[in-house]
Amino acid sequence: MARNKIALIGGGQIGGTIALLAGLKELGDVVISDILDGVPQGKALDIAESSPILGFDADLSGGRGHAQIKDADVVIVTAGVSRRPGMSRDDLLAVNAKVMCAAGAAIGKYAPNAFVIVITNPLDAMVWALQKASGLPPRKVVGMAGVLDSARFRWFLAEEFKVSVEDVTAFVLGGHGEALVPLFRYSTVGGIPLPDLVKLGWTTKDRLDEIAQRVRDQGTEVVDLLKVGNASPIYAPAAAAIEMADSYLKDKKRILPCAAHLSGHYGVKDLYVGVPVVIGAAGVEKVVEVTLGPAEKTAFQKSVASVRTLVDVTRRLEPSLG
Ligand code: APR
Repeated sequence: MARNKIALIGGGQIGGTIALLAGLKELGDVVISDILDGVPQGKALDIAESSPILGFDADLSGGRGHAQIKDADVVIVTAGVSRRPGMSRDDLLAVNAKVMCAAGAAIGKYAPNAFVIVITNPLDAMVWALQKASGLPPRKVVGMAGVLDSARFRWFLAEEFKVSVEDVTAFVLGGHGEALVPLFRYSTVGGIPLPDLVKLGWTTKDRLDEIAQRVRDQGTEVVDLLKVGNASPIYAPAAAAIEMADSYLKDKKRILPCAAHLSGHYGVKDLYVGVPVVIGAAGVEKVVEVTLGPAEKTAFQKSVASVRTLVDVTRRLEPSLG
């Protein structure tokens, strides 16, 4: 049986790391498409040369231009400009919306049956733009944000309680970063919901709120620490995209928080918002809808409103998206 084909549109920091992880996990052959010539070829060759040491079989190639993504099973989009210190996600919108239009058109032309994972920021608007530009069914186009946000939340909780990350789950809703809505009552340590841990005296509600805020600020915290050039988070975003691709390619039906197209779920229409979904061979196979309490509903609606504002700006910048 032929190997799966994973196409990366954008072979920068995150794209290169995804290529390595895809190899390590033997998810399939990898092609890296970038606007630069040389960088994708160089990264593909470098990673291919690591394969005899790391022990994986995969063809890796790269180059300029999108024709090489032809018939990809999965396309992961990181193309665009990344955030610099002091730059908000929204500042990126004007540049990256154009990149999504070009990448979307190429996916529609060369890889119309692919499952597409968008990472480019500002995520919730960029995934909307890419789906429109590609014409692919909305269930085949998702945004990577929630897996990363919940991983960050899980890491901080594991540190807080001095337990394994494997025993911590975190349930998040809403937009990426600042617009994140963590649901404490569905987040657990060893199966115990966070509010129960407050009652048991393990932590306090204030401390949990502080951790949630740190998760929201995480993109900025890492950018501020890295301080060099246009450096921004790389490894956790790449790992998150790989987890989503893995669930699709192996039909694992993982329940993962993703920016998914909502068509009435949670009272939202034609918008990509972070919600838990089942990812399997059909793409987004189910949106998991939970009942929200009044405070959760207010926070979620605020998050949806901020996503809608970004999408409205994108629509104005790129009227062809409709
Ligand atoms: N087509 C293809 N590739 C492009 C295009 C384009 N139109 N425009 C830019 N690129 C390429 C760049 O040449 C670069 O190699 O996209 C790559 C982006 O890589 P980095 O700048 O290293 O950014 P990275 O850290 O990988 O982040 C990518 O993910 O988390 C988000 O905010 C982040 O939007 C950013 C994206």
